[in-house]
Amino acid sequence: MNFGVIGAGQMGGGIAQVAAQSGFTVVVHDQKQEFLDRGRAVIEKSLGKLHEKGKLSDTPETVLGRITFTTDLADFAACDLVVEAIVENEGIKAELFRRLGETVKPEGILASNTSSIPITALATASGRPERFIGMHFMNPVPLMALVEVIRGYRTSDETARFITETAEKMGKTPLACNDFPGFVSNRILMPMLNEAIQCVMEGVAEPEAIDGIMKLGMNHPMGPLTLADFIGLDTCLAIMEVLHQGLGDDKYRPSPLLRKMVQAGRLGRKSGQGFYTY
Ligand code: CAA
Ligand code: NAD
Repeated sequence: MNFGVIGAGQMGGGIAQVAAQSGFTVVVHDQKQEFLDRGRAVIEKSLGKLHEKGKLSDTPETVLGRITFTTDLADFAACDLVVEAIVENEGIKAELFRRLGETVKPEGILASNTSSIPITALATASGRPERFIGMHFMNPVPLMALVEVIRGYRTSDETARFITETAEKMGKTPLACNDFPGFVSNRILMPMLNEAIQCVMEGVAEPEAIDGIMKLGMNHPMGPLTLADFIGLDTCLAIMEVLHQGLGDDKYRPSPLLRKMVQAGRLGRKSGQGFYTY
């Protein structure tokens, strides 16, 4: 299969890596060569780790050899599937899908890895709503089992079947849900992270104590503030905005501290500083 990925950030890089591990021929796009180089370095490091642990069936070089990196969207014309993993912004994603709808061969399927943005709106922008779907991987992609499969209003049964089978070929467990703000995963996860941030703002406890309480008390693998830093505070804020606007209830209002940290450029792990320093 010719597998395309748009965005070489933490999610796009992980999706490209796992697709290549599954034997697919992969092309990855980002806006600048330096972003592609950074994405490639992260993939190399992850493949090295998996190889050391005997978790790769091919050598890292073979897997990496299946991936090409490009700044030119025209290189996606022959893709059977393109998964988008760019910034969590509806306008920017819609414009990209408009261009992909014109570029990718008509029978190609387009998918978004969006955390929360309506699949149906992006499907309309692509001009091929029957062959459009949400394919939501979890972070870190090489280690997490789930793919949340989100059907838009006009997604065909054939597209849903193809994505389910592709996720399985990638060693993931696909689980289906419908197109509502935040789907299932982030409708439930994100209010918890937002509440933890609100606890910091109100001085309920220090970040280390909040994370420790949730890790030791609830057996979560990461505390909520560590996880928010890991996801990216910009992405967390964007998801909370979609939940708040889409569901209306004030319980989804983003914490003012989350908004302020994003305004200050403290985006978590990816910017070197969030609730913790990296
Ligand atoms: N590739 C390869 N190896 C990786 C890796 C990657 N991308 N990321 C981490 N590892 C390695 C680590 O280097 C470490 O290796 P060593 O044992 O050699 O040191 C190993 O995996 C295990 O890491 P940890 O020691 O940190 O152990 P862990 O048991 O905590 O596992 C984890 C790490 C799986 C990330 C775990 O902490 C976890 O499950 N965290 C929660 C993740 C989560 O909730 N993800 C969902 C986020 S929400 C989302 O994705 C949706 C959205 O739209 C926002
Ligand atoms: P990121 O900031 O790590 O990477 C985004 C990449 O997209 C960057 O390399 C950026 O240069 C590139 N990009 C931005 N606009 C672009 C455009 N118009 N064309 C091409 N490339 C462009 O972000 P991320 O964490 O990888 O998130 C990407 C998507 O995946 C978002 O929609 C996010 O909501 C979703 N997601 C994130 C997580 C997470 O935990 N971070 C989990 C699941 C889904």
